[in-house]
Amino acid sequence: MILIETIEKLKEVLFRIRSNGKTIGLVPTMGALHEGHISLIKKAKSENQVVVVTIFINPLQFDNPNDLERYPRDLEKDLLLIESITDIVFAPSTQEIFPTEPMESYNFGEIETIMEGASRPGHFNGVATIVKRLFDYVQPNRAYFGEKDFQQLAIIRKLVEQTKEDITIVSCPVVRESTGLAMSSRNQLLSFAKRNIASKVYGIINKSKALGTPIVSKISEFVLTEIKKLEPVTLDYFTMIDEATLQPVESLEDAKSVVACVAFVIGEIRLIDMIRFK
Ligand code: PAJ
Repeated sequence: MILIETIEKLKEVLFRIRSNGKTIGLVPTMGALHEGHISLIKKAKSENQVVVVTIFINPLQFDNPNDLERYPRDLEKDLLLIESITDIVFAPSTQEIFPTEPMESYNFGEIETIMEGASRPGHFNGVATIVKRLFDYVQPNRAYFGEKDFQQLAIIRKLVEQTKEDITIVSCPVVRESTGLAMSSRNQLLSFAKRNIASKVYGIINKSKALGTPIVSKISEFVLTEIKKLEPVTLDYFTMIDEATLQPVESLEDAKSVVACVAFVIGEIRLIDMIRFK
């Protein structure tokens, strides 16, 4: 595994790899790596000859300065964790990526106005800005993203469509802790007790499936009532959407595939999750 910190070096190394006809899989991350990230890297490794993992905490996608400041950082640990399954790690400085103020402005229409887009203004423009730049530097054959960040995945598919990139976007299922809590770099900012409470949100949503009703208002009522009992969790949103369009549905029968997206805050830490209903 080689560690690269400059765009110039990255392009030079990848040019040689591409000239040798090798396929490249890209896994963009913000570090503090866990089993969720590892699953993406392993998938990339199984489908490409060379795997590039990027580790970059993108300041543009943080709407809350406290969140950016406390975001966990441990490059040494990250490198050890992935050295046997990764060929190239690109871990640039902020200055390397944004020497001048980025001016990119994307428009993804309605899908960027709901859920995360509504709660975190500018978030997806920040995500698209960094992902597009990484696509340009790496020019991968395939890029890997987790379904946990369900809306992000939809935004990236739209980005590829709009910019006509010849990149296959591969989605990977949510990896969970044994308690059911979706793995997240932010989990390590929670105490053991809070982590345990956070895992109950997943438990509640999963339990709502046993109600056996297709009516979303009934499912939502159950989920909202149960989450309200969970001190100190504050629900941001619980939305059930058509997987294909991201439009909210009223009944599970309204779409071929329905997923629930949830965002909540526990002890100032904001977490998101995605649970498939059908
Ligand atoms: P980050 O949160 O580090 O996540 C990197 C990738 O890992 C994303 O595609 C995310 O969906 C996936 N991932 C995170 N937790 C997961 C889990 N429990 N199971 C499966 N996959 C999981 O998402 C970002 O970084 C950034 O927005 C980024 C795309 C790198 C742009 O800055």
